[in-house]
Amino acid sequence: MREELLKIQEQGSVELNNAQSLEELNQLRIKYLGKKGLLTQVLRGMGSLEASERPIVGQLANEIRDSLEQCLAAKNKYLQEKALLLRLEEEVIDVTLPGRPIKFGNKHPLTLILEEIKGIFTGMGFTVADGPEVELDYYNFEALNIPKDHPARDMQDSFYITDEILLRTHTSPVQARVMQAMTPELPVKIIAPGKVFRRDDDATHSPMFHQVEGLLVDNKITFADLKGTLLSFVRQMFGSDRQIRLRPSYFPFTEPSAEVDVSCFNCGGQGCRVCKDTGWIEILGSGMVHPNVLQMSGYNPEQVTGFAFGMGVERIAMLKYGIDDLRLLFENDVRFLSQF
Ligand code: PHE
Repeated sequence: MREELLKIQEQGSVELNNAQSLEELNQLRIKYLGKKGLLTQVLRGMGSLEASERPIVGQLANEIRDSLEQCLAAKNKYLQEKALLLRLEEEVIDVTLPGRPIKFGNKHPLTLILEEIKGIFTGMGFTVADGPEVELDYYNFEALNIPKDHPARDMQDSFYITDEILLRTHTSPVQARVMQAMTPELPVKIIAPGKVFRRDDDATHSPMFHQVEGLLVDNKITFADLKGTLLSFVRQMFGSDRQIRLRPSYFPFTEPSAEVDVSCFNCGGQGCRVCKDTGWIEILGSGMVHPNVLQMSGYNPEQVTGFAFGMGVERIAMLKYGIDDLRLLFENDVRFLSQF
Protein backbone atom coordinates (compact mmCIF):
# COMPACT_ATOMS: atom_id res chain seq x y z
CA MET A 1 0.00 0.00 0.00
CA ARG A 2 2.85 2.28 0.85
CA GLU A 3 4.26 1.60 -2.59
CA GLU A 4 0.98 2.35 -4.26
CA LEU A 5 0.85 5.67 -2.44
CA LEU A 6 4.39 6.60 -3.40
CA LYS A 7 3.60 5.71 -6.98
CA ILE A 8 0.60 8.04 -6.89
CA GLN A 9 2.80 10.82 -5.57
CA GLU A 10 5.43 10.36 -8.21
CA GLN A 11 3.09 9.93 -11.14
CA GLY A 12 0.78 12.67 -9.88
CA SER A 13 3.45 15.30 -9.53
CA VAL A 14 4.85 14.51 -12.96
CA GLU A 15 1.44 14.71 -14.61
CA LEU A 16 0.47 17.89 -12.79
CA ASN A 17 3.73 19.51 -13.78
CA ASN A 18 3.20 18.60 -17.40
CA ALA A 19 -0.36 19.92 -17.59
CA GLN A 20 -0.68 22.27 -20.54
CA SER A 21 -3.95 23.98 -19.75
CA LEU A 22 -6.22 24.90 -16.90
CA GLU A 23 -8.79 22.37 -18.09
CA GLU A 24 -6.23 19.60 -18.12
CA LEU A 25 -5.13 20.59 -14.65
CA ASN A 26 -8.68 20.38 -13.43
CA GLN A 27 -9.06 16.89 -14.91
CA LEU A 28 -5.90 15.83 -13.05
CA ARG A 29 -7.19 17.30 -9.80
CA ILE A 30 -10.27 15.11 -10.14
CA LYS A 31 -8.17 12.12 -11.10
CA TYR A 32 -5.86 12.28 -8.07
CA LEU A 33 -7.53 14.33 -5.38
CA GLY A 34 -11.23 14.06 -6.25
CA LYS A 35 -13.84 12.24 -4.15
CA LYS A 36 -13.44 9.15 -6.28
CA GLY A 37 -9.80 9.87 -7.12
CA LEU A 38 -6.81 7.52 -6.91
CA LEU A 39 -5.77 8.63 -3.46
CA THR A 40 -9.19 7.93 -1.98
CA GLN A 41 -9.38 4.60 -3.77
CA VAL A 42 -6.10 3.45 -2.18
CA LEU A 43 -7.13 4.65 1.25
CA ARG A 44 -10.28 2.55 1.04
CA GLY A 45 -7.99 -0.47 1.46
CA MET A 46 -6.78 0.76 4.87
CA GLY A 47 -9.10 -1.67 6.62
CA SER A 48 -6.99 -4.60 5.57
CA LEU A 49 -3.88 -3.20 7.28
CA GLU A 50 -2.51 -4.08 10.67
CA ALA A 51 -3.80 -1.67 13.33
CA SER A 52 -0.24 -0.53 14.05
CA GLU A 53 0.40 0.32 10.41
CA ARG A 54 -2.71 2.41 9.88
CA PRO A 55 -1.53 5.68 11.48
CA ILE A 56 1.77 5.49 9.58
CA VAL A 57 0.08 4.92 6.25
CA GLY A 58 -2.54 7.54 7.12
CA GLN A 59 0.14 10.12 7.79
CA LEU A 60 1.91 9.27 4.57
CA ALA A 61 -1.34 9.65 2.65
CA ASN A 62 -1.88 13.09 4.19
CA GLU A 63 1.61 14.19 3.28
CA ILE A 64 1.07 13.04 -0.28
CA ARG A 65 -2.26 14.87 -0.48
CA ASP A 66 -0.58 18.07 0.77
CA SER A 67 2.27 17.79 -1.65
CA LEU A 68 -0.03 17.13 -4.63
CA GLU A 69 -2.21 20.06 -3.60
CA GLN A 70 0.84 22.34 -3.48
CA CYS A 71 1.88 21.11 -6.87
CA LEU A 72 -1.59 21.80 -8.18
CA ALA A 73 -1.71 25.31 -6.71
CA ALA A 74 1.69 26.23 -8.15
CA LYS A 75 0.81 24.95 -11.59
CA ASN A 76 -2.57 26.65 -11.44
CA LYS A 77 -0.95 29.99 -10.70
CA TYR A 78 1.54 29.50 -13.49
CA LEU A 79 -1.13 28.60 -16.06
CA GLN A 80 -3.35 31.54 -15.03
CA GLU A 81 -0.50 33.98 -15.53
CA LYS A 82 0.39 32.42 -18.83
CA ALA A 83 -3.20 32.71 -20.04
CA LEU A 84 -3.27 36.38 -19.06
CA LEU A 85 -0.01 37.13 -20.88
CA LEU A 86 -1.33 35.38 -23.94
CA ARG A 87 -4.50 37.45 -23.90
CA LEU A 88 -2.51 40.65 -23.50
CA GLU A 89 -0.44 39.70 -26.49
CA GLU A 90 -3.44 38.89 -28.65
CA GLU A 91 -5.57 41.86 -27.66
CA VAL A 92 -3.73 44.58 -29.48
CA ILE A 93 -5.33 47.97 -29.09
CA ASP A 94 -5.24 49.84 -32.36
CA VAL A 95 -4.59 53.38 -31.27
CA THR A 96 -4.97 54.64 -34.84
CA LEU A 97 -8.69 53.80 -34.94
CA PRO A 98 -10.87 56.92 -34.86
CA GLY A 99 -12.49 57.50 -31.45
CA ARG A 100 -16.19 57.28 -30.84
CA PRO A 101 -17.52 60.83 -30.72
CA ILE A 102 -18.86 62.01 -27.37
CA LYS A 103 -22.27 63.63 -27.64
CA PHE A 104 -22.22 67.09 -26.09
CA GLY A 105 -25.39 68.81 -24.98
CA ASN A 106 -26.14 72.31 -26.15
CA LYS A 107 -28.12 75.27 -24.99
CA HIS A 108 -31.83 75.51 -25.73
CA PRO A 109 -32.59 78.03 -28.52
CA LEU A 110 -34.58 80.18 -26.07
CA THR A 111 -31.62 80.28 -23.71
CA LEU A 112 -29.37 81.35 -26.58
CA ILE A 113 -31.74 84.16 -27.59
CA LEU A 114 -32.20 85.25 -23.99
CA GLU A 115 -28.45 85.40 -23.45
CA GLU A 116 -28.07 87.44 -26.61
CA ILE A 117 -30.79 89.90 -25.54
CA LYS A 118 -29.29 90.24 -22.07
CA GLY A 119 -25.84 90.76 -23.59
CA ILE A 120 -27.08 93.59 -25.79
CA PHE A 121 -28.91 95.46 -23.02
CA THR A 122 -26.27 95.01 -20.33
CA GLY A 123 -23.89 96.41 -22.96
CA MET A 124 -26.07 99.55 -22.96
CA GLY A 125 -25.91 99.81 -19.17
CA PHE A 126 -29.12 98.03 -18.17
CA THR A 127 -29.06 95.66 -15.22
CA VAL A 128 -31.07 92.44 -15.04
CA ALA A 129 -33.97 92.31 -12.56
CA ASP A 130 -36.60 89.72 -11.88
CA GLY A 131 -39.91 89.26 -10.15
CA PRO A 132 -42.28 86.47 -9.11
CA GLU A 133 -44.17 84.34 -11.63
CA VAL A 134 -47.03 83.98 -9.17
CA GLU A 135 -48.01 87.62 -8.89
CA LEU A 136 -50.45 89.85 -7.07
CA ASP A 137 -53.29 91.31 -9.08
CA TYR A 138 -52.02 94.64 -7.75
CA TYR A 139 -48.68 94.48 -9.57
CA ASN A 140 -49.92 92.64 -12.65
CA PHE A 141 -52.75 95.12 -13.27
CA GLU A 142 -53.57 97.83 -10.71
CA ALA A 143 -50.11 99.35 -10.42
CA LEU A 144 -49.95 99.37 -14.22
CA ASN A 145 -53.00 101.59 -14.50
CA ILE A 146 -55.35 98.68 -15.24
CA PRO A 147 -58.11 98.87 -12.62
CA LYS A 148 -60.43 95.95 -11.92
CA ASP A 149 -63.09 96.81 -14.51
CA HIS A 150 -60.64 97.86 -17.25
CA PRO A 151 -61.41 96.26 -20.62
CA ALA A 152 -57.67 95.75 -21.29
CA ARG A 153 -57.78 92.87 -18.80
CA ASP A 154 -59.68 90.84 -21.38
CA MET A 155 -56.65 90.84 -23.70
CA GLN A 156 -54.61 89.08 -21.04
CA ASP A 157 -56.86 86.35 -19.70
CA SER A 158 -54.89 84.53 -17.06
CA PHE A 159 -54.72 81.68 -14.60
CA TYR A 160 -56.05 82.89 -11.26
CA ILE A 161 -55.06 81.29 -7.97
CA THR A 162 -57.34 83.48 -5.89
CA ASP A 163 -59.14 86.73 -6.80
CA GLU A 164 -56.00 88.63 -5.84
CA ILE A 165 -53.25 86.21 -6.97
CA LEU A 166 -52.53 85.00 -10.50
CA LEU A 167 -49.78 83.74 -12.78
CA ARG A 168 -48.41 86.96 -14.23
CA THR A 169 -49.60 87.69 -17.77
CA HIS A 170 -46.57 89.81 -18.66
CA THR A 171 -43.24 90.95 -17.20
CA SER A 172 -44.53 94.51 -16.75
CA PRO A 173 -45.29 94.00 -13.00
CA VAL A 174 -41.49 93.96 -12.52
CA GLN A 175 -41.55 97.64 -13.59
CA ALA A 176 -43.74 98.52 -10.62
CA ARG A 177 -41.83 96.31 -8.19
CA VAL A 178 -38.43 97.69 -9.17
CA MET A 179 -39.55 101.33 -9.06
CA GLN A 180 -41.22 100.81 -5.68
CA ALA A 181 -38.02 99.27 -4.32
CA MET A 182 -35.69 101.91 -5.80
CA THR A 183 -37.51 105.20 -5.32
CA PRO A 184 -36.24 107.89 -5.13
CA GLU A 185 -33.03 106.64 -6.72
CA LEU A 186 -32.30 107.42 -10.39
CA PRO A 187 -31.83 106.14 -13.00
CA VAL A 188 -34.00 103.06 -12.95
CA LYS A 189 -32.50 101.12 -15.84
CA ILE A 190 -33.42 97.46 -15.96
CA ILE A 191 -34.47 94.61 -18.15
CA ALA A 192 -36.56 91.82 -16.67
CA PRO A 193 -36.63 88.52 -18.53
CA GLY A 194 -38.92 85.73 -17.40
CA LYS A 195 -41.86 83.41 -17.84
CA VAL A 196 -45.38 84.69 -18.35
CA PHE A 197 -48.72 82.89 -18.63
CA ARG A 198 -51.86 83.38 -20.68
CA ARG A 199 -54.85 81.29 -21.60
CA ASP A 200 -53.77 80.81 -25.22
CA ASP A 201 -52.68 77.67 -27.04
CA ASP A 202 -52.01 77.35 -30.79
CA ALA A 203 -49.15 77.28 -33.32
CA THR A 204 -48.01 80.77 -32.35
CA HIS A 205 -49.27 80.97 -28.75
CA SER A 206 -48.34 78.87 -25.75
CA PRO A 207 -49.94 79.12 -22.27
CA MET A 208 -46.42 79.71 -20.95
CA PHE A 209 -43.95 81.86 -22.81
CA HIS A 210 -41.13 84.30 -22.14
CA GLN A 211 -40.87 88.06 -22.26
CA VAL A 212 -38.15 90.57 -21.68
CA GLU A 213 -39.31 93.81 -20.12
CA GLY A 214 -37.27 96.99 -20.37
CA LEU A 215 -37.57 100.11 -18.22
CA LEU A 216 -35.60 103.34 -18.12
CA VAL A 217 -36.70 106.13 -15.76
CA ASP A 218 -34.58 109.24 -15.28
CA ASN A 219 -34.56 113.00 -15.71
CA LYS A 220 -35.38 114.09 -19.26
CA ILE A 221 -35.97 110.72 -20.83
CA THR A 222 -37.76 111.26 -24.14
CA PHE A 223 -39.40 109.25 -26.85
CA ALA A 224 -36.19 109.73 -28.87
CA ASP A 225 -34.30 107.75 -26.20
CA LEU A 226 -36.79 104.92 -26.58
CA LYS A 227 -36.43 104.94 -30.33
CA GLY A 228 -32.63 105.08 -30.25
CA THR A 229 -32.37 102.30 -27.69
CA LEU A 230 -34.66 100.03 -29.68
CA LEU A 231 -32.93 100.80 -32.99
CA SER A 232 -29.60 99.89 -31.43
CA PHE A 233 -31.04 96.67 -30.00
CA VAL A 234 -32.63 95.66 -33.30
CA ARG A 235 -29.43 96.26 -35.27
CA GLN A 236 -27.35 94.21 -32.84
CA MET A 237 -29.93 91.45 -32.80
CA PHE A 238 -30.99 91.26 -36.44
CA GLY A 239 -28.27 92.96 -38.46
CA SER A 240 -26.75 96.39 -38.92
CA ASP A 241 -28.94 97.48 -41.84
CA ARG A 242 -32.24 96.91 -40.10
CA GLN A 243 -34.73 99.78 -39.81
CA ILE A 244 -37.49 100.14 -37.25
CA ARG A 245 -41.01 101.50 -37.65
CA LEU A 246 -43.16 102.69 -34.76
CA ARG A 247 -46.92 102.37 -35.07
CA PRO A 248 -49.29 104.10 -32.65
CA SER A 249 -50.79 101.63 -30.21
CA TYR A 250 -52.41 101.44 -26.83
CA PHE A 251 -51.28 100.09 -23.48
CA PRO A 252 -52.85 101.39 -20.25
CA PHE A 253 -49.39 101.75 -18.65
CA THR A 254 -47.69 103.77 -21.40
CA GLU A 255 -48.65 107.04 -23.05
CA PRO A 256 -47.98 107.45 -25.89
CA SER A 257 -47.63 103.79 -26.86
CA ALA A 258 -46.13 102.19 -29.93
CA GLU A 259 -45.80 98.79 -31.54
CA VAL A 260 -42.34 98.38 -33.00
CA ASP A 261 -41.71 96.66 -36.32
CA VAL A 262 -38.33 95.71 -37.72
CA SER A 263 -37.62 95.72 -41.45
CA CYS A 264 -37.68 92.12 -42.65
CA PHE A 265 -34.24 90.55 -42.33
CA ASN A 266 -35.24 87.81 -44.73
CA CYS A 267 -36.10 89.95 -47.75
CA GLY A 268 -34.70 93.30 -46.64
CA GLY A 269 -38.16 94.89 -46.92
CA GLN A 270 -39.24 93.77 -50.41
CA GLY A 271 -41.91 91.47 -49.00
CA CYS A 272 -41.69 87.71 -48.51
CA ARG A 273 -43.20 84.77 -46.66
CA VAL A 274 -41.55 85.66 -43.34
CA CYS A 275 -42.98 89.21 -43.26
CA LYS A 276 -46.23 88.19 -44.96
CA ASP A 277 -45.38 90.47 -47.90
CA THR A 278 -45.40 93.63 -45.80
CA GLY A 279 -41.63 94.09 -45.48
CA TRP A 280 -42.06 94.59 -41.70
CA ILE A 281 -42.19 92.25 -38.72
CA GLU A 282 -43.74 93.22 -35.39
CA ILE A 283 -41.43 92.46 -32.50
CA LEU A 284 -42.47 94.38 -29.39
CA GLY A 285 -44.75 96.79 -27.55
CA SER A 286 -43.45 99.99 -25.99
CA GLY A 287 -44.16 103.52 -24.87
CA MET A 288 -43.48 106.30 -22.42
CA VAL A 289 -44.27 105.23 -18.86
CA HIS A 290 -47.74 106.55 -17.93
CA PRO A 291 -47.66 109.30 -15.26
CA ASN A 292 -50.10 107.28 -13.12
CA VAL A 293 -47.67 104.34 -13.12
CA LEU A 294 -44.74 106.53 -12.06
CA GLN A 295 -46.87 108.09 -9.35
CA MET A 296 -48.15 104.81 -7.94
CA SER A 297 -44.62 103.46 -7.64
CA GLY A 298 -43.27 106.52 -5.87
CA TYR A 299 -41.81 108.75 -8.61
CA ASN A 300 -42.98 112.27 -9.34
CA PRO A 301 -44.20 112.41 -12.96
CA GLU A 302 -43.61 116.18 -12.92
CA GLN A 303 -39.91 115.57 -12.44
CA VAL A 304 -39.02 112.30 -14.11
CA THR A 305 -40.02 110.48 -17.26
CA GLY A 306 -39.33 107.05 -18.59
CA PHE A 307 -39.84 104.55 -21.34
CA ALA A 308 -40.72 100.88 -21.23
CA PHE A 309 -40.95 98.03 -23.67
CA GLY A 310 -41.82 94.36 -23.66
CA MET A 311 -40.87 91.71 -26.20
CA GLY A 312 -41.72 88.05 -26.66
CA VAL A 313 -38.64 85.83 -26.59
CA GLU A 314 -40.25 82.90 -28.47
CA ARG A 315 -41.31 85.25 -31.24
CA ILE A 316 -37.78 86.57 -31.62
CA ALA A 317 -36.35 83.04 -31.58
CA MET A 318 -38.84 81.93 -34.24
CA LEU A 319 -37.96 84.89 -36.44
CA LYS A 320 -34.25 84.58 -35.99
CA TYR A 321 -34.05 80.82 -36.49
CA GLY A 322 -36.91 80.48 -39.00
CA ILE A 323 -39.03 78.23 -36.73
CA ASP A 324 -42.64 78.11 -37.88
CA ASP A 325 -44.28 76.30 -34.97
CA LEU A 326 -43.81 77.69 -31.48
CA ARG A 327 -44.60 74.32 -29.91
CA LEU A 328 -41.33 72.89 -31.21
CA LEU A 329 -39.60 75.03 -28.58
CA PHE A 330 -41.35 73.16 -25.77
CA GLU A 331 -41.54 69.58 -27.04
CA ASN A 332 -37.88 68.92 -26.25
CA ASP A 333 -37.25 66.70 -29.25
CA VAL A 334 -33.47 66.27 -29.36
CA ARG A 335 -33.49 66.15 -33.18
CA PHE A 336 -34.86 69.70 -33.12
CA LEU A 337 -32.86 71.03 -30.18
CA SER A 338 -29.50 69.76 -31.42
CA GLN A 339 -29.71 72.03 -34.46
CA PHE A 340 -28.85 75.17 -32.52
N1 PHE B 1 -46.70 94.19 -21.30
C1 PHE B 1 -47.07 94.40 -22.68
C2 PHE B 1 -47.60 93.08 -23.25
O1 PHE B 1 -47.40 92.07 -22.67
C3 PHE B 1 -45.89 94.87 -23.50
C4 PHE B 1 -45.40 96.21 -23.09
C5 PHE B 1 -44.41 96.35 -22.12
C6 PHE B 1 -45.90 97.36 -23.67
C7 PHE B 1 -43.96 97.61 -21.76
C8 PHE B 1 -45.45 98.61 -23.34
C9 PHE B 1 -44.48 98.72 -22.37
O2 PHE B 1 -48.25 93.08 -24.27
